[in-house]
Amino acid sequence: MDKYVVKGGKQLFGQVDISGAKNAAVAIIPAALMVEGVCRIENIPQISDTKKLLEMLALMGAKIRFVNKTTLDIDCSNVHLSDDIYDLTRQIRASYYLIGSMLGRFGKASTTMPGGCNFGVRPIDQHIKGMKALGAVMDISRGFIKAEAKGGRLKGTRIYLDKVSVGATINVMIAATMASGITVIENVAREPHIVDLANFLNSMGADIRGAGTDVIKVRGVDKLHGGSYCLIPDQIEAGTYMAAVAGTGGEVTLTNVIPKHLDCISAKLIEMGVEIEEGEDFVTVRRTGELTHTNIKTLPYPGFPTDMQPQVSTVLALANGTSVVTEGVWDNRYKYVNELRKMGAEIQVDGKTAVIQGVKKLYGAPVAACDLRAGAAMVIAGLCAEGTTTIEDIVYIERGYQDFVGKLRKLGADIVKISDPDPKSDEGIAEAV
Ligand code: EPZ
Repeated sequence: MDKYVVKGGKQLFGQVDISGAKNAAVAIIPAALMVEGVCRIENIPQISDTKKLLEMLALMGAKIRFVNKTTLDIDCSNVHLSDDIYDLTRQIRASYYLIGSMLGRFGKASTTMPGGCNFGVRPIDQHIKGMKALGAVMDISRGFIKAEAKGGRLKGTRIYLDKVSVGATINVMIAATMASGITVIENVAREPHIVDLANFLNSMGADIRGAGTDVIKVRGVDKLHGGSYCLIPDQIEAGTYMAAVAGTGGEVTLTNVIPKHLDCISAKLIEMGVEIEEGEDFVTVRRTGELTHTNIKTLPYPGFPTDMQPQVSTVLALANGTSVVTEGVWDNRYKYVNELRKMGAEIQVDGKTAVIQGVKKLYGAPVAACDLRAGAAMVIAGLCAEGTTTIEDIVYIERGYQDFVGKLRKLGADIVKISDPDPKSDEGIAEAV
Protein backbone atom coordinates (compact mmCIF):
# COMPACT_ATOMS: atom_id res chain seq x y z
CA MET A 1 0.00 0.00 0.00
CA ASP A 2 1.25 3.53 -0.78
CA LYS A 3 2.34 5.60 2.19
CA TYR A 4 3.88 8.93 3.13
CA VAL A 5 7.15 9.15 5.08
CA VAL A 6 7.59 12.45 6.93
CA LYS A 7 10.73 13.62 8.74
CA GLY A 8 9.44 16.26 11.13
CA GLY A 9 10.86 19.30 12.89
CA LYS A 10 11.30 21.63 9.91
CA GLN A 11 9.52 24.98 9.71
CA LEU A 12 7.59 25.81 6.52
CA PHE A 13 8.45 28.79 4.37
CA GLY A 14 7.37 30.02 0.94
CA GLN A 15 4.24 30.17 -1.18
CA VAL A 16 1.53 27.63 -1.96
CA ASP A 17 -1.14 27.93 -4.66
CA ILE A 18 -4.54 26.67 -3.55
CA SER A 19 -6.47 24.44 -5.96
CA GLY A 20 -10.15 24.48 -6.86
CA ALA A 21 -12.66 23.53 -4.16
CA LYS A 22 -13.21 19.76 -3.92
CA ASN A 23 -16.70 20.10 -2.47
CA ALA A 24 -17.70 22.52 -5.22
CA ALA A 25 -16.25 20.28 -7.96
CA VAL A 26 -18.02 17.17 -6.68
CA ALA A 27 -21.35 19.01 -6.87
CA ILE A 28 -20.79 20.83 -10.17
CA ILE A 29 -19.61 17.80 -12.17
CA PRO A 30 -22.79 15.76 -11.43
CA ALA A 31 -24.88 18.89 -12.09
CA ALA A 32 -23.29 19.23 -15.55
CA LEU A 33 -25.25 16.11 -16.54
CA MET A 34 -28.28 18.39 -16.96
CA VAL A 35 -26.57 20.73 -19.45
CA GLU A 36 -27.33 20.04 -23.14
CA GLY A 37 -24.14 21.60 -24.44
CA VAL A 38 -20.47 22.05 -23.58
CA CYS A 39 -19.55 23.22 -20.06
CA ARG A 40 -16.03 24.61 -19.85
CA ILE A 41 -15.02 24.34 -16.19
CA GLU A 42 -11.78 25.90 -14.91
CA ASN A 43 -9.87 25.32 -11.64
CA ILE A 44 -10.98 21.68 -11.32
CA PRO A 45 -8.81 20.06 -8.60
CA GLN A 46 -6.85 17.02 -9.77
CA ILE A 47 -8.03 14.60 -7.08
CA SER A 48 -9.45 11.10 -7.19
CA ASP A 49 -13.00 12.16 -6.27
CA THR A 50 -13.31 14.37 -9.34
CA LYS A 51 -11.71 11.71 -11.55
CA LYS A 52 -14.32 9.17 -10.40
CA LEU A 53 -17.23 11.53 -11.04
CA LEU A 54 -15.91 12.32 -14.53
CA GLU A 55 -15.66 8.58 -15.20
CA MET A 56 -19.33 8.19 -14.16
CA LEU A 57 -20.42 10.91 -16.58
CA ALA A 58 -18.35 9.36 -19.38
CA LEU A 59 -20.04 6.01 -18.75
CA MET A 60 -23.37 7.82 -19.22
CA GLY A 61 -22.24 9.14 -22.61
CA ALA A 62 -20.69 12.49 -21.70
CA LYS A 63 -17.76 13.63 -23.85
CA ILE A 64 -14.95 14.92 -21.61
CA ARG A 65 -11.87 16.74 -22.90
CA PHE A 66 -9.11 18.22 -20.76
CA VAL A 67 -8.06 21.61 -22.17
CA ASN A 68 -5.23 21.70 -19.64
CA LYS A 69 -4.52 20.05 -16.25
CA THR A 70 -7.32 21.91 -14.45
CA THR A 71 -9.64 23.04 -17.25
CA LEU A 72 -12.02 20.67 -18.96
CA ASP A 73 -14.92 20.61 -21.39
CA ILE A 74 -17.86 18.38 -20.45
CA ASP A 75 -20.40 17.80 -23.23
CA CYS A 76 -23.60 16.15 -21.95
CA SER A 77 -25.60 16.74 -25.15
CA ASN A 78 -26.17 13.00 -25.52
CA VAL A 79 -26.31 11.16 -22.21
CA HIS A 80 -28.25 8.21 -20.81
CA LEU A 81 -28.65 6.25 -17.58
CA SER A 82 -26.16 3.43 -17.18
CA ASP A 83 -25.78 0.52 -14.75
CA ASP A 84 -22.03 0.64 -15.39
CA ILE A 85 -21.57 3.48 -12.89
CA TYR A 86 -22.49 1.48 -9.78
CA ASP A 87 -18.97 0.33 -8.86
CA LEU A 88 -17.92 3.99 -8.84
CA THR A 89 -21.00 5.48 -7.16
CA ARG A 90 -20.50 3.19 -4.14
CA GLN A 91 -17.03 4.65 -3.59
CA ILE A 92 -17.73 8.34 -2.95
CA ARG A 93 -20.25 10.42 -1.02
CA ALA A 94 -20.93 12.94 -3.78
CA SER A 95 -22.29 10.30 -6.20
CA TYR A 96 -25.68 10.94 -4.61
CA TYR A 97 -25.85 14.31 -6.36
CA LEU A 98 -26.60 12.25 -9.49
CA ILE A 99 -30.05 11.60 -8.02
CA GLY A 100 -30.89 15.28 -8.45
CA SER A 101 -29.25 15.70 -11.84
CA MET A 102 -30.60 12.43 -13.29
CA LEU A 103 -34.13 13.40 -12.18
CA GLY A 104 -33.60 16.84 -13.69
CA ARG A 105 -32.33 15.53 -17.00
CA PHE A 106 -34.19 12.24 -17.46
CA GLY A 107 -37.14 12.45 -15.03
CA LYS A 108 -35.74 9.32 -13.41
CA ALA A 109 -32.63 8.24 -11.53
CA SER A 110 -30.75 5.01 -10.91
CA THR A 111 -27.68 4.86 -8.70
CA THR A 112 -26.43 3.26 -5.49
CA MET A 113 -26.17 4.37 -1.89
CA PRO A 114 -23.09 6.62 -1.66
CA GLY A 115 -19.72 5.84 -0.07
CA GLY A 116 -17.55 8.45 1.63
CA CYS A 117 -15.57 9.04 4.81
CA ASN A 118 -16.79 7.04 7.79
CA PHE A 119 -17.32 9.17 10.87
CA GLY A 120 -20.56 7.89 12.22
CA VAL A 121 -24.01 7.61 10.74
CA ARG A 122 -24.46 9.59 7.52
CA PRO A 123 -28.19 9.39 6.70
CA ILE A 124 -29.72 10.76 3.50
CA ASP A 125 -33.29 11.19 4.78
CA GLN A 126 -33.34 14.89 3.97
CA HIS A 127 -32.31 14.19 0.38
CA ILE A 128 -35.17 11.72 0.08
CA LYS A 129 -37.60 14.12 1.76
CA GLY A 130 -36.69 16.80 -0.80
CA MET A 131 -37.00 14.53 -3.83
CA LYS A 132 -40.36 13.18 -2.67
CA ALA A 133 -41.61 16.72 -2.06
CA LEU A 134 -40.67 17.53 -5.68
CA GLY A 135 -42.80 14.61 -6.84
CA ALA A 136 -40.32 11.77 -7.14
CA VAL A 137 -41.30 8.20 -6.27
CA MET A 138 -38.26 6.79 -4.42
CA ASP A 139 -37.30 3.11 -4.16
CA ILE A 140 -34.30 2.52 -1.89
CA SER A 141 -33.48 -1.14 -1.42
CA ARG A 142 -30.57 -3.55 -1.49
CA GLY A 143 -28.12 -0.65 -1.68
CA PHE A 144 -29.69 0.85 -4.81
CA ILE A 145 -31.54 4.14 -5.20
CA LYS A 146 -34.18 4.33 -7.94
CA ALA A 147 -36.38 7.37 -8.46
CA GLU A 148 -39.03 8.43 -10.97
CA ALA A 149 -40.71 11.82 -11.33
CA LYS A 150 -44.51 11.50 -11.37
CA GLY A 151 -45.68 12.62 -14.81
CA GLY A 152 -42.09 12.52 -16.07
CA ARG A 153 -40.97 15.86 -14.57
CA LEU A 154 -40.41 17.14 -11.02
CA LYS A 155 -42.76 19.88 -9.83
CA GLY A 156 -41.70 22.93 -7.81
CA THR A 157 -42.80 23.14 -4.17
CA ARG A 158 -41.81 24.52 -0.76
CA ILE A 159 -39.39 22.35 1.24
CA TYR A 160 -38.20 22.88 4.83
CA LEU A 161 -35.06 20.86 5.61
CA ASP A 162 -35.21 19.42 9.13
CA LYS A 163 -31.43 19.67 9.44
CA VAL A 164 -28.90 22.08 7.95
CA SER A 165 -27.31 19.74 5.43
CA VAL A 166 -24.79 20.64 2.71
CA GLY A 167 -25.60 17.52 0.71
CA ALA A 168 -29.36 17.78 0.92
CA THR A 169 -29.23 21.49 0.07
CA ILE A 170 -27.12 20.77 -3.01
CA ASN A 171 -29.11 17.73 -4.15
CA VAL A 172 -32.50 19.42 -3.83
CA MET A 173 -31.24 22.60 -5.51
CA ILE A 174 -29.95 20.52 -8.44
CA ALA A 175 -33.24 18.61 -8.73
CA ALA A 176 -35.32 21.82 -8.54
CA THR A 177 -33.29 23.48 -11.32
CA MET A 178 -35.29 21.72 -14.07
CA ALA A 179 -38.54 21.12 -12.19
CA SER A 180 -41.66 22.88 -13.47
CA GLY A 181 -42.57 25.95 -11.43
CA ILE A 182 -40.98 27.50 -8.37
CA THR A 183 -39.21 25.70 -5.48
CA VAL A 184 -38.44 27.37 -2.17
CA ILE A 185 -35.98 25.47 0.03
CA GLU A 186 -35.74 26.65 3.64
CA ASN A 187 -33.23 25.98 6.45
CA VAL A 188 -30.51 25.33 3.86
CA ALA A 189 -26.74 25.20 4.35
CA ARG A 190 -24.73 28.30 3.36
CA GLU A 191 -21.28 26.90 2.52
CA PRO A 192 -19.24 28.66 -0.21
CA HIS A 193 -19.48 25.58 -2.44
CA ILE A 194 -23.28 25.85 -2.39
CA VAL A 195 -23.03 29.40 -3.72
CA ASP A 196 -20.49 28.19 -6.29
CA LEU A 197 -22.89 25.51 -7.55
CA ALA A 198 -25.76 28.03 -7.83
CA ASN A 199 -23.49 30.40 -9.76
CA PHE A 200 -22.42 27.58 -12.09
CA LEU A 201 -26.03 26.55 -12.78
CA ASN A 202 -27.11 30.17 -13.32
CA SER A 203 -24.27 30.62 -15.83
CA MET A 204 -25.77 27.67 -17.71
CA GLY A 205 -29.24 29.23 -17.80
CA ALA A 206 -30.75 28.27 -14.44
CA ASP A 207 -32.67 30.73 -12.24
CA ILE A 208 -31.51 30.24 -8.62
CA ARG A 209 -31.54 32.95 -5.98
CA GLY A 210 -30.58 33.13 -2.32
CA ALA A 211 -27.69 30.64 -2.25
CA GLY A 212 -25.52 31.59 0.74
CA THR A 213 -28.55 32.56 2.79
CA ASP A 214 -30.87 30.16 4.63
CA VAL A 215 -33.55 30.26 1.92
CA ILE A 216 -32.95 29.29 -1.72
CA LYS A 217 -35.54 30.03 -4.42
CA VAL A 218 -35.40 28.17 -7.75
CA ARG A 219 -37.52 28.98 -10.80
CA GLY A 220 -37.39 25.77 -12.87
CA VAL A 221 -36.23 25.96 -16.52
CA ASP A 222 -36.86 23.62 -19.45
CA LYS A 223 -33.27 23.46 -20.64
CA LEU A 224 -29.73 24.41 -19.65
CA HIS A 225 -27.26 25.64 -22.28
CA GLY A 226 -23.47 25.32 -22.37
CA GLY A 227 -21.15 27.96 -21.00
CA SER A 228 -17.98 28.45 -18.97
CA TYR A 229 -17.31 28.65 -15.25
CA CYS A 230 -14.34 28.86 -12.84
CA LEU A 231 -14.54 27.09 -9.48
CA ILE A 232 -13.78 28.90 -6.22
CA PRO A 233 -10.58 27.96 -4.37
CA ASP A 234 -10.74 25.27 -1.70
CA GLN A 235 -11.44 26.71 1.76
CA ILE A 236 -10.39 23.48 3.51
CA GLU A 237 -7.24 22.89 1.51
CA ALA A 238 -6.23 26.46 2.40
CA GLY A 239 -7.12 25.91 6.05
CA THR A 240 -5.03 22.74 6.08
CA TYR A 241 -1.89 24.60 4.96
CA MET A 242 -2.65 27.39 7.46
CA ALA A 243 -2.83 24.78 10.23
CA ALA A 244 0.37 23.13 9.00
CA VAL A 245 2.46 26.29 9.29
CA ALA A 246 0.77 27.13 12.61
CA GLY A 247 2.04 23.78 13.85
CA THR A 248 5.55 23.78 12.40
CA GLY A 249 6.24 27.50 12.73
CA GLY A 250 7.52 29.59 9.80
CA GLU A 251 5.85 31.84 7.25
CA VAL A 252 3.76 30.79 4.25
CA THR A 253 1.72 32.80 1.76
CA LEU A 254 -1.30 31.03 0.29
CA THR A 255 -2.25 32.35 -3.16
CA ASN A 256 -5.53 31.99 -5.07
CA VAL A 257 -7.74 32.11 -1.95
CA ILE A 258 -10.87 34.05 -0.99
CA PRO A 259 -9.91 35.40 2.48
CA LYS A 260 -13.57 35.88 3.41
CA HIS A 261 -14.08 32.10 3.22
CA LEU A 262 -11.22 31.64 5.71
CA ASP A 263 -12.49 34.11 8.34
CA CYS A 264 -13.52 31.47 10.87
CA ILE A 265 -10.26 29.56 10.50
CA SER A 266 -8.12 32.72 10.67
CA ALA A 267 -9.95 33.93 13.79
CA LYS A 268 -9.19 30.70 15.65
CA LEU A 269 -5.56 30.57 14.55
CA ILE A 270 -5.08 34.19 15.69
CA GLU A 271 -6.46 33.19 19.11
CA MET A 272 -3.77 30.48 19.14
CA GLY A 273 -0.96 32.99 18.63
CA VAL A 274 -0.66 32.84 14.82
CA GLU A 275 -0.22 36.05 12.77
CA ILE A 276 -2.31 36.38 9.61
CA GLU A 277 -2.14 39.08 6.94
CA GLU A 278 -4.91 39.21 4.32
CA GLY A 279 -4.68 40.49 0.76
CA GLU A 280 -7.12 40.54 -2.17
CA ASP A 281 -6.55 36.90 -3.10
CA PHE A 282 -3.87 35.72 -0.67
CA VAL A 283 -3.23 35.25 3.04
CA THR A 284 0.16 35.15 4.74
CA VAL A 285 0.37 32.96 7.84
CA ARG A 286 3.25 33.38 10.28
CA ARG A 287 3.99 31.64 13.59
CA THR A 288 7.14 32.51 15.45
CA GLY A 289 6.13 32.41 19.12
CA GLU A 290 4.43 29.84 21.35
CA LEU A 291 1.06 28.30 20.49
CA THR A 292 -1.77 29.07 22.91
CA HIS A 293 -4.77 26.92 23.77
CA THR A 294 -8.31 27.85 22.69
CA ASN A 295 -11.77 26.27 22.47
CA ILE A 296 -13.52 25.32 19.25
CA LYS A 297 -17.04 24.20 18.33
CA THR A 298 -17.58 23.10 14.74
CA LEU A 299 -20.74 24.41 13.07
CA PRO A 300 -22.21 24.83 9.60
CA TYR A 301 -20.81 27.81 7.64
CA PRO A 302 -20.00 30.54 8.60
CA GLY A 303 -19.08 28.68 11.80
CA PHE A 304 -15.79 26.85 12.26
CA PRO A 305 -15.80 24.07 9.61
CA THR A 306 -15.98 20.48 10.80
CA ASP A 307 -13.60 19.61 7.95
CA MET A 308 -10.90 21.60 9.77
CA GLN A 309 -11.45 19.95 13.16
CA PRO A 310 -8.80 17.18 12.93
CA GLN A 311 -6.16 19.53 11.53
CA VAL A 312 -6.58 22.27 14.16
CA SER A 313 -6.97 19.77 17.02
CA THR A 314 -3.57 18.38 16.00
CA VAL A 315 -2.04 21.85 16.33
CA LEU A 316 -3.78 22.33 19.70
CA ALA A 317 -2.04 19.13 20.86
CA LEU A 318 1.15 21.23 20.81
CA ALA A 319 -0.32 24.42 22.33
CA ASN A 320 0.31 25.64 25.88
CA GLY A 321 -2.63 24.78 28.15
CA THR A 322 -5.84 22.83 27.75
CA SER A 323 -8.22 23.19 24.81
CA VAL A 324 -11.78 21.90 24.43
CA VAL A 325 -13.04 20.94 20.96
CA THR A 326 -16.73 20.14 20.38
CA GLU A 327 -17.75 18.44 17.13
CA GLY A 328 -21.09 20.01 16.31
CA VAL A 329 -21.76 18.28 12.97
CA TRP A 330 -20.73 14.60 13.02
CA ASP A 331 -21.30 11.87 15.59
CA ASN A 332 -17.84 10.40 15.60
CA ARG A 333 -15.08 12.46 14.02
CA TYR A 334 -12.32 11.66 16.53
CA LYS A 335 -11.00 8.34 15.15
CA TYR A 336 -7.69 10.10 14.40
CA VAL A 337 -7.13 10.74 18.15
CA ASN A 338 -5.91 7.17 18.69
CA GLU A 339 -3.32 7.74 15.97
CA LEU A 340 -2.23 11.05 17.52
CA ARG A 341 -1.87 9.37 20.93
CA LYS A 342 0.72 7.02 19.34
CA MET A 343 2.76 10.21 18.71
CA GLY A 344 2.46 11.42 22.30
CA ALA A 345 -0.65 13.60 22.17
CA GLU A 346 -2.69 13.85 25.39
CA ILE A 347 -6.33 13.96 24.31
CA GLN A 348 -9.43 12.64 26.07
CA VAL A 349 -12.56 12.11 23.99
CA ASP A 350 -16.06 11.87 25.44
CA GLY A 351 -18.73 11.67 22.73
CA LYS A 352 -18.57 14.87 20.70
CA THR A 353 -16.04 16.58 22.97
CA ALA A 354 -12.26 16.30 23.00
CA VAL A 355 -10.17 17.75 25.83
CA ILE A 356 -6.65 18.41 24.54
CA GLN A 357 -3.80 18.87 27.05
CA GLY A 358 -0.97 20.50 25.09
CA VAL A 359 2.41 18.73 25.16
CA LYS A 360 5.87 20.07 24.40
CA LYS A 361 6.57 17.57 21.63
CA LEU A 362 5.04 14.93 19.40
CA TYR A 363 7.21 11.99 18.32
CA GLY A 364 7.27 10.31 14.93
CA ALA A 365 5.48 6.95 14.75
CA PRO A 366 3.76 4.61 12.25
CA VAL A 367 0.16 5.88 11.89
CA ALA A 368 -2.74 5.57 9.44
CA ALA A 369 -5.20 7.94 7.79
CA CYS A 370 -8.70 7.11 9.07
CA ASP A 371 -10.43 9.42 6.58
CA LEU A 372 -9.64 12.39 4.34
CA ARG A 373 -9.20 15.17 6.91
CA ALA A 374 -7.88 12.81 9.61
CA GLY A 375 -5.19 11.84 7.10
CA ALA A 376 -4.29 15.49 6.55
CA ALA A 377 -4.05 15.86 10.32
CA MET A 378 -1.58 12.94 10.45
CA VAL A 379 0.61 14.72 7.90
CA ILE A 380 0.53 17.89 10.01
CA ALA A 381 1.43 15.85 13.10
CA GLY A 382 4.33 14.25 11.21
CA LEU A 383 5.60 17.66 10.05
CA CYS A 384 5.59 18.92 13.68
CA ALA A 385 6.93 15.76 15.31
CA GLU A 386 10.51 14.91 16.26
CA GLY A 387 11.63 11.96 14.17
CA THR A 388 10.02 10.02 11.34
CA THR A 389 6.32 9.32 10.81
CA THR A 390 4.95 6.87 8.26
CA ILE A 391 1.32 7.35 7.21
CA GLU A 392 -0.59 4.40 5.72
CA ASP A 393 -3.90 4.47 3.81
CA ILE A 394 -3.03 7.70 2.04
CA VAL A 395 -5.65 6.88 -0.60
CA TYR A 396 -8.05 8.78 1.67
CA ILE A 397 -5.84 11.88 1.59
CA GLU A 398 -5.41 11.82 -2.17
CA ARG A 399 -9.20 11.95 -2.59
CA GLY A 400 -9.17 15.58 -1.54
CA TYR A 401 -5.70 17.14 -1.79
CA GLN A 402 -4.08 17.89 -5.14
CA ASP A 403 -0.30 17.27 -5.13
CA PHE A 404 -0.14 17.36 -1.32
CA VAL A 405 3.44 16.02 -1.19
CA GLY A 406 4.69 18.31 -3.98
CA LYS A 407 3.15 21.43 -2.45
CA LEU A 408 4.53 20.60 1.03
CA ARG A 409 8.02 19.83 -0.31
CA LYS A 410 8.06 23.23 -2.03
CA LEU A 411 7.50 24.73 1.46
CA GLY A 412 10.54 22.87 2.82
CA ALA A 413 8.81 19.82 4.28
CA ASP A 414 10.73 16.54 4.28
CA ILE A 415 7.96 14.26 2.98
CA VAL A 416 8.02 11.53 0.34
CA LYS A 417 5.40 9.18 -1.08
CA ILE A 418 6.46 5.54 -1.06
CA SER A 419 4.58 3.64 -3.73
CA ASP A 420 4.50 0.03 -2.66
CA PRO A 421 3.02 -1.94 -5.59
CA ASP A 422 3.50 -5.27 -3.84
CA PRO A 423 2.35 -5.08 -0.20
CA LYS A 424 4.50 -8.14 0.55
CA SER A 425 7.71 -6.44 -0.60
CA ASP A 426 9.75 -4.79 2.13
CA GLU A 427 10.93 -1.79 0.18
CA GLY A 428 8.93 0.78 -1.72
CA ILE A 429 9.97 3.21 -4.41
CA ALA A 430 10.43 6.71 -3.00
CA GLU A 431 8.80 9.39 -5.15
CA ALA A 432 10.44 12.61 -4.06
CA VAL A 433 8.46 14.97 -6.28
C1 EPZ B 1 -20.55 17.55 3.19
O1 EPZ B 1 -20.95 16.27 3.62
C2 EPZ B 1 -19.07 17.45 2.89
N1 EPZ B 1 -18.84 16.48 1.82
C3 EPZ B 1 -18.31 17.02 4.14
O2 EPZ B 1 -16.92 17.13 3.85
C4 EPZ B 1 -18.61 17.98 5.30
O3 EPZ B 1 -18.06 17.45 6.48
C5 EPZ B 1 -20.11 18.19 5.46
O4 EPZ B 1 -20.73 18.53 4.21
C6 EPZ B 1 -20.42 19.30 6.46
O5 EPZ B 1 -19.85 20.50 5.99
C7 EPZ B 1 -19.02 16.89 0.55
O6 EPZ B 1 -19.37 18.03 0.29
C8 EPZ B 1 -18.78 15.85 -0.52
P1 EPZ B 1 -24.21 17.23 5.63
P2 EPZ B 1 -22.53 15.94 3.73
O7 EPZ B 1 -25.33 16.68 4.83
O8 EPZ B 1 -23.26 16.69 2.70
C9 EPZ B 1 -26.91 15.16 8.94
C10 EPZ B 1 -14.75 16.50 3.47
O9 EPZ B 1 -13.91 16.32 4.37
N2 EPZ B 1 -27.75 14.75 7.82
O10 EPZ B 1 -24.03 18.71 5.70
O11 EPZ B 1 -22.66 14.47 3.84
C11 EPZ B 1 -25.55 14.48 8.93
O12 EPZ B 1 -25.62 13.22 9.56
C12 EPZ B 1 -16.13 15.96 3.67
O13 EPZ B 1 -14.56 17.15 2.43
C13 EPZ B 1 -28.96 14.12 8.10
O14 EPZ B 1 -29.30 13.90 9.25
O15 EPZ B 1 -22.85 16.57 5.17
C14 EPZ B 1 -24.69 15.46 9.69
O16 EPZ B 1 -24.89 15.26 11.08
C15 EPZ B 1 -16.21 15.00 4.84
N3 EPZ B 1 -29.75 13.74 7.05
C16 EPZ B 1 -25.29 16.81 9.30
O17 EPZ B 1 -26.60 16.54 8.80
C17 EPZ B 1 -29.40 13.98 5.74
O18 EPZ B 1 -30.18 13.62 4.84
C18 EPZ B 1 -24.51 17.54 8.23
O19 EPZ B 1 -24.35 16.66 7.12
C19 EPZ B 1 -28.18 14.62 5.49
C20 EPZ B 1 -27.37 15.01 6.54
